[in-house]
Amino acid sequence: MAVHRIGVLTSGGDTPGMNAAVRAVVRRSLSFGDVVLGVYHGYEGLMNGSVKQLQSADVHGVIQRGGTILRTARSETFKTPEGQEKAIRLMEAYEMDSLVVIGGDGSFRGAEALAKRGVNVMGMPGTIDNDMGYTDFTIGFDTAVNNVISELEKIRDTMRSHDRVAVVEVMGRACGDIALWSAMTGPTDIVLTPECPRPWEEAAAHLVQNRLLGRYTSLVVIAEGAGKAEDFAKFVRETTDVDIKPVVLSYIQRGGSPTAADRMLATRLGARAVELIHEGKRNRAVGIRDNKIIDVDICEASGHSDNFDEELYNLHGVLNKIYI
Ligand code: ADP
Ligand code: F6P
Repeated sequence: MAVHRIGVLTSGGDTPGMNAAVRAVVRRSLSFGDVVLGVYHGYEGLMNGSVKQLQSADVHGVIQRGGTILRTARSETFKTPEGQEKAIRLMEAYEMDSLVVIGGDGSFRGAEALAKRGVNVMGMPGTIDNDMGYTDFTIGFDTAVNNVISELEKIRDTMRSHDRVAVVEVMGRACGDIALWSAMTGPTDIVLTPECPRPWEEAAAHLVQNRLLGRYTSLVVIAEGAGKAEDFAKFVRETTDVDIKPVVLSYIQRGGSPTAADRMLATRLGARAVELIHEGKRNRAVGIRDNKIIDVDICEASGHSDNFDEELYNLHGVLNKIYI
């Protein structure tokens, strides 16, 4: 059986579960007798030679840790042909025959660029945003949603004590999944997402109506792609007499120990990425669909947009209406 020299890196925004993914890649590779080369600081490290061989002990005790032990980066230089050539020369120097890239859609576009230059890449979807439509879930999304709902509950307690309203801004770039899933599973009356834009006048009127019907405390979750909490609060204050506080959750939602679901996803995908290399497959992206691990061409994966669930969005509206 062929032995491989496999590089692994994490890139773009860190996510809880990246370490579980690295652990699975390392241990599954070692089970085949491969050499695993950890590349630090994403594509920056691939250009600058920030590489270290990883042994089993290097990934001991990391499955429960948030962030990424390999560190991460966003690299403008890597987007250039010169940057990509430099990365390829580095891979040749280390005799890496394959590279596992754990990151979001930007990182996948980087992987695709390397694939087009002859490198064998395996993509693993690591982003809290869940904006990669070829897979039902990305690594880190579940933890981010759990982080958000735990903060929403705290905010709800203090808002209720004062009969106040809050608008909470969550991450997701152009994708409303974190907002929608947090709204569905946390104490949220209104959710604003980029995929289903709702006029702010209507949302503000909804808040006034809630109060008329006896609900003095309402929580609005706004996806960053749908606008800023500060702007929505200003709009509501200027057009109604509702007392509303803006809250931006920011990086709180991206850190912390990964949930069991994220650890499981990362572990299954990491092992599969290595198995694909041993099956002689090239340039694939692993993902999960209907709870089955799947793989698609890396170009197909990086070209996919998100798969926002409009039915779920409508159901949130139905379940959070006040029925009298
Ligand atoms: P994420 O992977 O979380 O979406 P980014 O969009 O910042 O994060 O992408 C991570 C890195 O991937 C970028 O900093 C860049 O180095 C690389 N990258 C992004 N887009 C491209 C591209 N079109 N070509 C080559 N590399 C890219
Ligand atoms: O892609 C992950 C993400 O956390 C987005 O949700 C957010 O818009 C962005 O990264 C923040 O980027 P940065 O880490 O550069 O502040």
